[in-house]
Amino acid sequence: MDFEGIEFPTPPPYKIKMVEFTELPSLEERQKVLREAGYNVFNIPSEKIYIDLLTDSGTSAMSDLQWGALMRGDEAYASARSFFNLQRTIQEIMGFRYVIPVHQGRAAEYLMFRALGLEKGDYALSNQFFDTTRANVEVRGATAVDLVVEDAYDITKEIPFKGNIDLKKVENFLAERGERVKVIVLTITNNSGGGQPVSMENIKKLGEMAKEFKVPFFLDAARFAENAYFIKLREKGFEDKSVKDIAREMFSAADGVLVSAKKDGLVNIGGFIALNDRNLYWRIRQSMVVTEGFPTYGGLAGRDLEALAQGLREVLNERYLQSRIEQVAFLGKLLEKRGIQVLKPCGGHGVYLDGLSFAPHIPREQWPSHAVVCAIYEHS
Ligand SMILES: Cc1ncc(COP(=O)(O)O)c(C=O)c1O
Repeated sequence: MDFEGIEFPTPPPYKIKMVEFTELPSLEERQKVLREAGYNVFNIPSEKIYIDLLTDSGTSAMSDLQWGALMRGDEAYASARSFFNLQRTIQEIMGFRYVIPVHQGRAAEYLMFRALGLEKGDYALSNQFFDTTRANVEVRGATAVDLVVEDAYDITKEIPFKGNIDLKKVENFLAERGERVKVIVLTITNNSGGGQPVSMENIKKLGEMAKEFKVPFFLDAARFAENAYFIKLREKGFEDKSVKDIAREMFSAADGVLVSAKKDGLVNIGGFIALNDRNLYWRIRQSMVVTEGFPTYGGLAGRDLEALAQGLREVLNERYLQSRIEQVAFLGKLLEKRGIQVLKPCGGHGVYLDGLSFAPHIPREQWPSHAVVCAIYEHS
């Protein structure tokens, strides 16, 4: 492989002491597997996949301290010690008063939008909604509106904060239909737009606007540490601040967070809501019992809560974030060198390929990117 002109990523600050064997099925076997899966890679048994790049969600390896923390899990039904450990950790890192664990991010969305009373005729605004977040708005009959900056739709445009929301569009929307806007959800980093970060300036200005119009403002903070790291790298005035302080500053602009912990929580399952509004907190606490369970475990085991508390502390390790994000950029550069069109700049958690440029003969409505994924499985 030709690495000329490409800087290698910073080595990761950990060593690996456990391996999981994988096997590379033969070409004939892969073709059979694909046929049997109906050409849907989600249906392929995972042991038939040699390198699985489906998602970063819930797929990270836990650290030795996280595995150790599992043993400290308090499995008491209610008010377990493990809940209070998680609550303390989130309060310390994010600064919100109330913490509600849930089994994963979409449960946080469901509970929050129900508690906010979203209904037909209402709007929820975002830079870009992740698909489950959008679905949780739409199942209530409300309308999810994406207001990301126009540049986000140009995959070749290299700007530092391609996840920013267009503040002018938000202001106009609030001025025209503010009374029907029930919530603003800013996705950091913006997964649907390629894992692109949002600047501190954008977060704060949006927070001020939400206050002015009295609209609850939540961060969809699945990848909060990556976003904070990008701010440190790219936004003037933050280069000497720690990622932990930057993260705290981001959170201080919002009323709360909806979190899928399967990303920057570094766990295989889990999520949470954290917020300051006491009334909203109590509405969620009461309503969640029928779906997620008692509010101190929210669909998770005590050991999951311990692993998550530890993961949230570890993800703030800046050398770890640096090596992780540089690894992604490195892969992006290698692909570009081979003439493959990638979304630029590379986001935090993945390299996004332009499926249409691989398969220009397949019309967009016939899912060219899906065909490319199947072809990569078959021929790689
Ligand atoms: C930005 C964002 N929000 C919400 C979710 C939903 O989280 P979960 O898969 O844990 O339900 C995801 C999952 O990928 C996500 O990337």
